[in-house]
Amino acid sequence: YSVAFQIGRMADSFEDDEADDNDEGPAIRRSSLSDALKNGTAESHEAAENVHFVKIYYGKIDRDLYQEMVSGLYHTYVCLESLLNSLGPKHFPTLHFAKELSRTEALKEDMEYWHGTGWETDPKCRNPSPAVKDYIDRMEEVSRMDPLLLLSHAYTRYLGDLSGGKVLSRIARRALDLTGYDGLQFYNFESIPSAVAFKKKYRIALDELALKPDQMGKLVAEANVAFALNMRVFEELDVRGKVPGARLRPVREALSYYDRIIDQ
Ligand code: HEM
Repeated sequence: YSVAFQIGRMADSFEDDEADDNDEGPAIRRSSLSDALKNGTAESHEAAENVHFVKIYYGKIDRDLYQEMVSGLYHTYVCLESLLNSLGPKHFPTLHFAKELSRTEALKEDMEYWHGTGWETDPKCRNPSPAVKDYIDRMEEVSRMDPLLLLSHAYTRYLGDLSGGKVLSRIARRALDLTGYDGLQFYNFESIPSAVAFKKKYRIALDELALKPDQMGKLVAEANVAFALNMRVFEELDVRGKVPGARLRPVREALSYYDRIIDQ
């Protein structure tokens, strides 16, 4: 599938939002990519929080679903980080924090914890689920189309992980009766002593990026695509968990939500 058309429309609309904001607020907002990303994905963030799986999060989660979530994260970060490692240094070197952020090794440990040794050859673990596959395909597509947009995917995952990680790992530890970071290495950012300080540094680096006029809108639009694709991963877990009324929406439908926002 290609969502280039929607992305174009979303990008245009976010450019307009920036201009509107500027009429009311201080001029500095125009150039703040970190503000544009935060404000421009606020509705998506709220929608993502309201998918059943996310809402109850680990409070009632069972081990099978948690294992599936870890598999999904593993495939997602293997793809994201191999793309970031090959494109980041050239296209956005000041935002390439591989040492601090990389989750692939942590997720390998979690995969072994949850799926046992030999997980790498287990057919259950080898292939991503359909919603994760769509997410991966999109990251690969933007990497070919416009590598800078990979940054939107990095932002959506890493800043989210750093924001909610501590709380979520505590909830998961209790709900799943785990010890320390066993099975939860994903949440253990060993090279980031203070998530708050790191997020501040990341936001400053976002704001210091030299962008062409249309790039800020495109980055915000792509972050919304990243949110939608994350929502579908949770929807898929809801379907597997037999949540009444759960449904994995087709990609186009998940993105058409943003069309409605733009049409307002
Ligand atoms: C930031 C809560 C789900 C992505 C945050 C922050 C909180 C939060 C409290 C910090 C805001 C700040 O620093 O000012 C939650 C809760 C969730 C949830 C309670 C679910 C129950 C998600 C999901 C994603 C996500 C599913 C995407 C996959 C982000 C991002 C930020 C963030 C990218 C950084 C925003 C920014 O400062 O630019 N979240 N979140 N969150 N969250 Fe979530």
